[in-house]
Amino acid sequence: MQFQVKTGTANKQRTACAIVPIYADGELSAAARSLDTAGRGLISRAIRNRDIKGDLDDQLLLLADAGPTGGLPCQRILLVGLGPKAKLNRRAWRKATRRALATVARSKYSEATLYLTAEAVDDTDAYRRARMAVEIWQEVSYRFTAMKSEPGDHAPTLKRLGIATSTRAQRQTRQGIAHGEAIGRAVALAKDLGNLPPNVCTPSYLVERARGIAKQGKKLTLNTLSVAQIRKLRMGAFLAVTQGSVEPPRFIVLKYRGGKAAVKPIVLVGKGITFDSGGISIKPAGAMDEMKYDMCGAATVLAVLQAVNDLNLPINVVGVVPTCENLPSGTASRPGDIVRTMSGKTVEILNTDAEGRLILCDAITYALRFKPAALIDIATLTGACLVALGRVRSGLLGNSDRLADDLLAAGQAADDRAWRLPLDDDYAELLKSPFADVANVGGRDAGTITAASFLSRFVGKTDWAHLDIAGTAWTQGSSKGGTGRPIPLLMEFLLNRK
Ligand code: BES
Ligand code: MN
Ligand code: ZN
Repeated sequence: MQFQVKTGTANKQRTACAIVPIYADGELSAAARSLDTAGRGLISRAIRNRDIKGDLDDQLLLLADAGPTGGLPCQRILLVGLGPKAKLNRRAWRKATRRALATVARSKYSEATLYLTAEAVDDTDAYRRARMAVEIWQEVSYRFTAMKSEPGDHAPTLKRLGIATSTRAQRQTRQGIAHGEAIGRAVALAKDLGNLPPNVCTPSYLVERARGIAKQGKKLTLNTLSVAQIRKLRMGAFLAVTQGSVEPPRFIVLKYRGGKAAVKPIVLVGKGITFDSGGISIKPAGAMDEMKYDMCGAATVLAVLQAVNDLNLPINVVGVVPTCENLPSGTASRPGDIVRTMSGKTVEILNTDAEGRLILCDAITYALRFKPAALIDIATLTGACLVALGRVRSGLLGNSDRLADDLLAAGQAADDRAWRLPLDDDYAELLKSPFADVANVGGRDAGTITAASFLSRFVGKTDWAHLDIAGTAWTQGSSKGGTGRPIPLLMEFLLNRK
């Protein structure tokens, strides 16, 4: 797919489909005005005839007959309502753009030109609009067909999308496109990894994909640990989770060095449970298939490293991914088992389904060796987070107000929002164990917070944030699938640090 900056007026732009905004109060966008004049009033006629009003979400496809005098350079005009001009904001713009591009993704066109990017919208600039348009295109054109024997005819045919902008904003627009492409490509990668079935997307498979990413640039290096090396490091909590499965666990370290060696890295830790049955504390059968998505934190981390390399960012980032399955068997760990973590602390495993924190605590201890400027873990950690925040916002917890604020702001800017939950010391009480240093569950109350409180014991004084993506990493229903969240949030955060 090729995105091209277009600066000419609409009446001069040859295209199979001009995607042109209009407003509900009868005002025409610059592109609409230009085509209306060249097309002898065909747009104003459509509005006058009430074929379209211009409300947000309205769409009308006009065949633009060039006619004997060849008035119009486009074959079609897709009119897109933006609602009343006075009310136009970013959300409305995104909604209209998503609908318009979804229509184009279903079409048979090989090329189209988007004029929504040329409109002034509150709280955006040309850079942001171009980036959003590209990310939205990648979103609506995403298809997961890897496991179908016949691809079907759903694949979008579009090869080129023109992104209209002013002559002044060419450079900004080009940068928006580049950033949007890298982020969109990362989101698609994370969706693929999430959507792949658990018999394919195993820990070893994630290693293979990490190797593929590492090959994409000289600034990337991959190091993976086998079970023997994991044992040597005494990651007793991680090993307890994997011991019921015949699939070998892996520990992935993918580094990107774009900054000076002395600059401390951002370290991202991603939960990589390729299937979470719950273990001996087995989950109910309903929708258990969705637990293949329990590696979405890992997918996020690998995909972010790919995007950081695509954009050649001048920063240092380390991705750390502990990955294994959580299955019941004769060798599985039992409720009541006590294990020694890499940090030396002992954990009483009261519920084998609280396995994410067990693999993460050892990964966090390992991650501290990189002396992180900031440590961020990303995990589909608790069902309680879904109860608290639904599928709209990711849960955010941590020990640094500054880091938490930066991440919240990044989520807001990238339309990939999070919400902070508290982490008072008082919650730690819930994890007391009579037999070990800490228990791995704290009862029903404040489940997302007690999970984060468990992790907080392993981070020490390092600036740390935890993103619980149990509600945001995938969607259910007819368009079931991975979402690629919170990649836009993390990329915004990393772009701000360069
Ligand atoms: N992977 C699950 C969390 C999860 C549940 C994500 C539902 C998305 C949807 C995690 O490993 C888990 O099972 N957590 C338990 C913790 C409990 C035992 C304290 C949970 O949320 O029920
Ligand atoms: Mn679990
Ligand atoms: Zn899990």
